Amino acid sequence: EIQVAKILNFSEESMDLCAHALQASNLVAFPTETVYGLGANALDEKALEKIFFAKGRPKSDPLIVHISEIFQAESLTEMTSFQRHCFDILGKKFWPGPLTLIVKASKNIPKLITAGGDSIAIRIPSGKIALSLLKKVNFPIAAPSANRFGHVSPTKANHVYDDLGSFPDLYIINQIEECDIGIESTVVKISENNEISILRPGAISSLQLNNVLNENNVNIKVNLVKREVKIINEDQELSTNLDSPGQLLTHYSPNIESFIIKNNELKLNKNIPLFSKNLLSKSVLIDFNSKNLKFKELSLCYLDLSDSGDSKEASKNLFHFLRKAEIIENAEFILLPDLNYENNENLSAIFDRIYRAASGKFVLIN
Ligand code: TXA
Ligand code: MG
Repeated sequence: EIQVAKILNFSEESMDLCAHALQASNLVAFPTETVYGLGANALDEKALEKIFFAKGRPKSDPLIVHISEIFQAESLTEMTSFQRHCFDILGKKFWPGPLTLIVKASKNIPKLITAGGDSIAIRIPSGKIALSLLKKVNFPIAAPSANRFGHVSPTKANHVYDDLGSFPDLYIINQIEECDIGIESTVVKISENNEISILRPGAISSLQLNNVLNENNVNIKVNLVKREVKIINEDQELSTNLDSPGQLLTHYSPNIESFIIKNNELKLNKNIPLFSKNLLSKSVLIDFNSKNLKFKELSLCYLDLSDSGDSKEASKNLFHFLRKAEIIENAEFILLPDLNYENNENLSAIFDRIYRAASGKFVLIN
């Protein structure tokens, strides 16, 4: 008999089984309000090893530790007074929810969590299943997104199974409609030298963060880390001095060549490669707000992230659509929408993922 991962439908009983699996150093993939997490006991080195092995993730990439109550951060951290102050303000306002806070780590936590660095990422998720699992175990749960390293993050149990199904020590909780937000949490670093930076954009915006800090008389403006693109080859070593390894360009990539259709209103895009209309018949066209509807009939498959231009709907659909596109027969390309995100931070967070899915490559259809 071949040993494979087990999918369990959500029930009180299966939750108990998953809590036991975690206690026994096994892995549990569970839905959160953002994406599926691949969970292990954060204090159990043997279990943490399994995360890296199952995902094919380099150990230079640190993990987010999930807790259910803010006081549990105490034993995991050694915060400066500035860090503690901001951590409390932001945690009390946005938790449970799609925010991850990075502060100084306690020296006692496993090196696999921090990738040997001196900071730790912490989050209280609001997903019902995630919270209930956290409350059933008496330890924090380390959980990266439950995909193979570099692939699109999962928002459904079958996405997890497609990537990690061959891993035997894994239980996958199946519950549809749990990953409501659909993209990963906003990652915010509160540094020891009194700076606050967004390392990964998400559903909690810099505007929201700034407002809350201001209301509490912390007059520091949150830095937005640029959509910087570091292209790495698959076989290249990850550099550990990257601020947030998740910001690598090769993240979130579908296994089909993907491009962004450049907005062409001004026809000023001289250096952008042309993508022939003939190739649309081999392309899955993922649209937003019906922007590229004119190419629908020519394309192999047409999906709109939100035909009404709703950013919440779009973020919920994005990863699902990317994975759908990968398995459409005869699909050779994925075409993605260019978003006007300047005045909309939700769209900006979505475009961050689109940009990475396409490895920053734009085309013009002609
Ligand atoms: O929404 C989410 O955050 C999901 C759910 C499961 O909670 N988790 C998630 O984990 O996206 P992961 O490992 O796929 O992404 C975490 C990101 C990575 O880019 C990692 O490099 C960064 O956070 N990170 C974690 N700890 C860090 C640290 N101490 N310093 C800098 N970056 C850190
Ligand atoms: Mg990830």
